[in-house]
Amino acid sequence: MSTPGSTGATAVSSSGTLSQAPGKQSRNTSLAGFDASAPLLQVTDLNVRFPTEDGLVHAVRGVDYTLRSGEVLGIVGESGSGKSVTSLAVMGLLPGAARVTGSVKYRGQELLGQNDRSLSRVRGKGVSMIFQDPMTSLDPVYKIGAQIQETLRVHDRSLSSKAAEARAVDLLELVGIPNAAERVHSYPHEFSGGMRQRVVIAIAMANQPEVIIADEPTTALDVTVQAQILEVLQTALSETGAAMVMITHDLGVVAGIADRVLVMYAGRPVEIGSVEDIYYEPRMPYTLGLLGSLPRVDSSTRERLTPITGSPPSLLNMPPGCPFAPRCPLHIAECDEAEPERFQVGPGHTAACIRTEQVAGAHGDAAEVFSETAEDSVLAADAMPADLATAEGGRDAAAPATPPGDQIEPGAGVPGGTGSLVSSPTSPTNGDRA
Ligand SMILES: Nc1ncnc2c1ncn2[C@@H]1O[C@H](COP(=O)(O)OP(=O)(O)OP(=O)(O)O)[C@@H](O)[C@H]1O
Ligand code: SF4
Ligand SMILES: [Mg+2]
Repeated sequence: MSTPGSTGATAVSSSGTLSQAPGKQSRNTSLAGFDASAPLLQVTDLNVRFPTEDGLVHAVRGVDYTLRSGEVLGIVGESGSGKSVTSLAVMGLLPGAARVTGSVKYRGQELLGQNDRSLSRVRGKGVSMIFQDPMTSLDPVYKIGAQIQETLRVHDRSLSSKAAEARAVDLLELVGIPNAAERVHSYPHEFSGGMRQRVVIAIAMANQPEVIIADEPTTALDVTVQAQILEVLQTALSETGAAMVMITHDLGVVAGIADRVLVMYAGRPVEIGSVEDIYYEPRMPYTLGLLGSLPRVDSSTRERLTPITGSPPSLLNMPPGCPFAPRCPLHIAECDEAEPERFQVGPGHTAACIRTEQVAGAHGDAAEVFSETAEDSVLAADAMPADLATAEGGRDAAAPATPPGDQIEPGAGVPGGTGSLVSSPTSPTNGDRA
């Protein structure tokens, strides 16, 4: 049976809240190098390469981040940017052929290079993971309750089956499953997608992990349910005190939950900063482009979206220079000389671009740097009432249709993938439970 959050002892009080189990401290010392004062999770120069018939795919290229206690780190980037591979590398869940280098330390304990048996002591009780598709984690042939109970008993063999079932019911109540005492006997297929994701969250929090890695936990769900699942995740964090790495392609999701944000592009972090840095003072054109493709509720004026045109580069034989260059409206010849390192642009804020000062001038307004395409204007006009369309069209007629000539990269603007991200609400809703 698969148990994604197979973890250690967790006490659930009769009031339905989790209390710390005895032995929680000692579990952290299970691998060599434990240091209570070390950051919860420290990832340094993580690289992942996959040998393929066409050559070596360099999927993750020098990822660095530190996750501190109680913190939520959002990892954002478009499809194929290496978000999942990074997390699977942290959890030691990549296929054997993957070549992984660098360092992943959990409280000072090096996880890279550990065998599966050693890692299983950390997985779930130290670091647990929530996947996008709950059916990846739940076994269709076992009842929900049995799967939660197994998770609880993997590291607490002394737990009686009656006590384990009672805890499973409490956990299901915590994540908002109605009639939990009955539903604990259901099979996964008897639950909706949103309810299955609640169960997966219950399993992930069962043993009070110190870190929860959530890989697109809301992407497979409709927007109303997404908002509910985000609330459940917040409950999980407050009940367990865990820190979280929240992976998403949706900047709207991280705005509501993250403290810091890491933006990935072509396998590499291109900007890291606080949520405020990323939303209001981004310094990397790609981040600015992501913001431009996100509807903003904090804007006092009606703004058009400004999608990023083109597609990310192939991760096979990356050309020299900035990987964002073919899509970047600020591209200059110097950008092609070498891939920019991440420069310090503020306290705790770094960006991989040689023109961060030009980006700073936009103050998060993507329209300052990215222009809408003619096709977008037509679509926008079609989608709005005629009087509004006329007013908007009039305003746009005065605005330049393209960036200044010296900012246009010949390859930019190629029709194809837009890289635009779609926002989803992050505020609580009163809709029916999923
Ligand atoms: N086993 C593998 N063999 C070869 N390439 C792989 C393998 N797994 C992933 N990749 C490649 O690694 C890159 C990063 O993939 P990853 O799944 O991390 O992207 P992602 O950012 O999570 O995207 P998404 O938002 O679509 O989930 C992609 O180009 C993908 O094709
Ligand atoms: S300005 Fe140059 S270095 Fe900066 S993102 Fe654009 S192409 Fe890359
Ligand atoms: Mg992914």
